[in-house]
Amino acid sequence: MSILTKSNISRILLKACSPFTYSSIYRVTINNRNLSTVVDSPKKIKLTFYSDKDKYDFEAAVGKTLLFEAKKSNVGIAGICEGKKVCNSCHVHLDKKAYQIVGEPTEEECDIFDLASGIADVYIPGSSRLCCQITVSSELEGAEIFIPRNSLL
Ligand code: FES
Repeated sequence: MSILTKSNISRILLKACSPFTYSSIYRVTINNRNLSTVVDSPKKIKLTFYSDKDKYDFEAAVGKTLLFEAKKSNVGIAGICEGKKVCNSCHVHLDKKAYQIVGEPTEEECDIFDLASGIADVYIPGSSRLCCQITVSSELEGAEIFIPRNSLL
């Protein structure tokens, strides 16, 4: 039988809780004793979204979806279907370096661009991505991402 010491509880919490998901102080009470464990905050990177009219500097948590991190920071991007890959309103243009980091869109993502052709902003090979399909990574630090007209709120 293992003894529940403060360090054992720390180890259990760190195993059970992804640092990308949780950050804060966890309060654990055992036999009326309050034991607290600090779990590191998720790493955040600085990003910029911009359009013809506006510029948004914000911080995004590594491991999270780019669209949701942008919306959390009140970036003026639509993302109407909230990541269900049906609206194309989270279409962004990446520069060459950022595109190489996030990679090519999936076939399913390309289908969304095909469906939207003619009604939405032009798909640019080597630049266009749906930002609801991009996971924030450390390598994207400092990236500047363009929001085309039809993706604006
Ligand atoms: S939010 Fe609709 S496709 Fe990305």
